Amino acid sequence: MTTTAPPAPPDGDRPPTRLVSAGRHFDRRIATVNLPVVRASSVTFETLAQADAEGAAAIAGEWHRSTYATSGTPTTFALMDALAEIEGGGHPCRAAIMPSGLAAISVPLLAYCSPGDHVLMSDSVYGPARGFATSLLARYGVRTEFYDPGIGAGIEALLRPETRVVYLESPGSYTFEIQDVPAICEVARARGVLTMIDNAWGSPVFARPFDWGVDVSLLPLTKYWGGHADLLMGAAVVREEHWLPLWQAVRQLGVCVGGDDAFLVLRGLRTADVRMRRHEATALTVARWLQGRPEVARVLHPALPDHPQHALFRRDFSGSSGLFSFELKAATPAQLAALCEGRRHFGIAYSWGGFESLIMPAKIGSLRTVSPWTGGPLVRLHCGLDDPADLIADLAEGLDALRAAG
Ligand SMILES: Cc1ncc(COP(=O)(O)O)c(C=O)c1O
Repeated sequence: MTTTAPPAPPDGDRPPTRLVSAGRHFDRRIATVNLPVVRASSVTFETLAQADAEGAAAIAGEWHRSTYATSGTPTTFALMDALAEIEGGGHPCRAAIMPSGLAAISVPLLAYCSPGDHVLMSDSVYGPARGFATSLLARYGVRTEFYDPGIGAGIEALLRPETRVVYLESPGSYTFEIQDVPAICEVARARGVLTMIDNAWGSPVFARPFDWGVDVSLLPLTKYWGGHADLLMGAAVVREEHWLPLWQAVRQLGVCVGGDDAFLVLRGLRTADVRMRRHEATALTVARWLQGRPEVARVLHPALPDHPQHALFRRDFSGSSGLFSFELKAATPAQLAALCEGRRHFGIAYSWGGFESLIMPAKIGSLRTVSPWTGGPLVRLHCGLDDPADLIADLAEGLDALRAAG
């Protein structure tokens, strides 16, 4: 059977071609507050020479150069600019974005380490960071040794000729130890060792890790930067001199994010300051209330004066976020379930940093090898943007249920 093409319209484009080409002109005269969202895979060029030049610039790590959306689009570049400026805090930095906070941990470790290298990692890190270091990274010949988060300048004794990275997280996951980050960075820098920090808790408002001397700041944008529990993303913000190896790894591994999610993080950061201050105030109100409860042995919140590293917190942070833990004097698994399940305002979930309040008992067990947790059952709270009185009433009911289940 033969087919005949539909008659050509006066301007020469047939209907299927019009479907492809119509409406692709963007009217740049109309100024809006927010940037347009660019969804893209292909990036197009006027000439072959332009394609070649753009490719060479992207490989060389030049800013805002892209031959394909895995390298970037106007929307992702806008977010990278914002992250480098905000997190960099006046230090010349660049930012790469990845599809989760965990990817923003694993990709930089792969980018900076080679077989035979040694990594020093805090014993208090986020569990999956430890899991990556002891499994996949180890398979590539990189050995990770854990250190006590209270080590400070004493880290010098653990440095070896092959130490490539000191990996920090302050405060620590679930146990909230504050590290003497500036002291650790000073020692590491003097020995040519790169410092990386998971800056999930304090950012985007209360911590300035590049003032402390770190080289790479890792941000789970999923948490406070996005702020609405509706996306996954992470960033590695690095001093300019460390940009190229990271950027090459990001491009070679093909880790990238879409325009819609990048836009949502840009939107989230506009309100980050007011949200963080509300999270801070609510969490402190709830934490102080918990301190007065008979079931609670201790509250682990760096902004409370009885926190063991409160002085370091006051020196290095300008505020605190909505995440902290409390230790129960005792609790069976059934009592923990009675505390956490059926809460009206606290959902049971692992993440945090959104507008919602969350509760999760800690399972520290094998997650500590150098400084084991010796206290009672630990429960982590994320205080969202709810009214603190409602959160307290909900926890009071939970603690009553815990006692009744005893
Ligand atoms: C301290 C910390 N770092 C990193 C991450 C990883 O972020 P994501 O959930 O985006 O992978 C989390 C997630 O809970 C976290 O708590």
